[in-house]
Amino acid sequence: MEVTPRSAAVGGSATLALAARAKALASEGRDVVNMAVGEPDFPAPAVARRAAAELLETGQDIRYTPAAGTPALRKLLAEHMHATRGGDWSSEEVVVTHSCKHALSSTLSVLIREGQRVVLFEPVWSSYEAGIQIAGGEAVRLPARPDLGPNLEAFAALLADRRLSAGIVGVMVCSPSNPSGYVWSREETETLVALVERHDLWILSDEIYRGLVYEGEPAVSPASISDQGRARTVVVDGASKVFAMTGFRIGFAAGPKNVIDAIGRVQSETTGCPNALSQAAYAAALAGDPPEVEAMVREFDVRRRHLIAGLEAIGLPTPFPRGAFYAFSSIGEFPGGSAAFCEQLLEEEAVAIVPGKIFGMDAYVRFSYAASMERIDAALERVGRFLAQRV
Ligand SMILES: Cc1ncc(COP(=O)(O)O)c(C=O)c1O
Repeated sequence: MEVTPRSAAVGGSATLALAARAKALASEGRDVVNMAVGEPDFPAPAVARRAAAELLETGQDIRYTPAAGTPALRKLLAEHMHATRGGDWSSEEVVVTHSCKHALSSTLSVLIREGQRVVLFEPVWSSYEAGIQIAGGEAVRLPARPDLGPNLEAFAALLADRRLSAGIVGVMVCSPSNPSGYVWSREETETLVALVERHDLWILSDEIYRGLVYEGEPAVSPASISDQGRARTVVVDGASKVFAMTGFRIGFAAGPKNVIDAIGRVQSETTGCPNALSQAAYAAALAGDPPEVEAMVREFDVRRRHLIAGLEAIGLPTPFPRGAFYAFSSIGEFPGGSAAFCEQLLEEEAVAIVPGKIFGMDAYVRFSYAASMERIDAALERVGRFLAQRV
């Protein structure tokens, strides 16, 4: 039996593979500092865990829900969109999905026709290109600016060239960014919306880290910029990061009704509906305004400052990230590039980090600060030693 070229081209999540390798080393007894992880090291809010536990306890209503999610959760998400992105949102403009990742793949599956092209800004989360390929499309990558921000000049130039922009139908953006923590400014988001309007494109805006911005202006959704921005944008988000609910696997997409409706119909045929327990937990978290979130954000901020200062001190220049929980550090011209850097660091010093290569930037590595201060200090000491041996 042969698999299709489309599925054969998908390599599998490199970050998950790396985390698995780190776990394997740990199980052999090595004291591994795992800074490769993409999930908060905090428990889910009590109110969310309680809601799931209560449902489990009663045994009632752990059944199929409507394919697009429970009416209660869709309503809460519409209210959440109003509160956080502005404008009026109805339940029909929101579909609950199994995760943000699933919202991304479902959205791509209803927006991309065979062979169409979608623009990505480097550094770019590795799953986007895979999602585009699985949907039958092709990614067009744009190199980053030196501060790791979106290269909107390159985007404008690409769109202005009819030959080079043939087949481009949309653009995917992520702010705050994984892997850089870069948060787009309002002006940048306005420029993006103006460009997609002029060239009749759609935006898929991954806002999974929206709640994790530590300084300056909050992240602005393209859907908040103008009616045009709203009409051309599908927002995807979820409970994984801001509520530390990665294992619940729950998220949503919000956007124009016809797109949301199509996602719901596809979901009804593919997965049936999102998990009932996770929907109840997510609804409780959204309605409960859990105090754990603020405490987690405060702690991330402390770690962020500490880690960046430490990385700079050991000789790894790191553009200051305003959001998410990652630091994307320059390793310069390391022999063998970022993969060699990460492999050697893992073998020699038992520190797991992610090579920038998978985000399209081989002269960088990604540290996650979803790790305690004590583990961050251990990592800094070990990476410092690793670098000192190479000067
Ligand atoms: C940019 C980005 N989007 C989406 C996700 C996945 O979110 P979820 O757990 O809801 O699938 C991640 C997880 O690492 C991410 O970094």
